[in-house]
Amino acid sequence: MVARPVPPATDPIEPAASTPITILVNGERRAGVLGQTVAGIMLAADTLTWRTSPVGGRPRGAFCGIGVCFDCLVVVNGQRDVRACQRRARDGDVVEFEGPSQSEGE
Ligand code: FES
Repeated sequence: MVARPVPPATDPIEPAASTPITILVNGERRAGVLGQTVAGIMLAADTLTWRTSPVGGRPRGAFCGIGVCFDCLVVVNGQRDVRACQRRARDGDVVEFEGPSQSEGE
């Protein structure tokens, strides 16, 4: 199978121009486009892990990407336990990596 480029004018998906956004991840600016998830923006910036497992302290980031595993939890605008793979980023979002929650035993 060979890739076949489709000119935008004839693309049945009718792609629209993307809207750039910026979020802050642990104080650092990360660029993305409207519609991307928080995890998508972090992964695009080569941030592959952002928390550790409660047992063993193993690195965790986006694992399933569909909201099932809860490995991608972050703090968004002060709200803990947000699944980065499910949360669509909004311009100006402030994302922080979270430490262990009370249920994880700190
Ligand atoms: S990567 Fe599994 S819930 Fe987000």
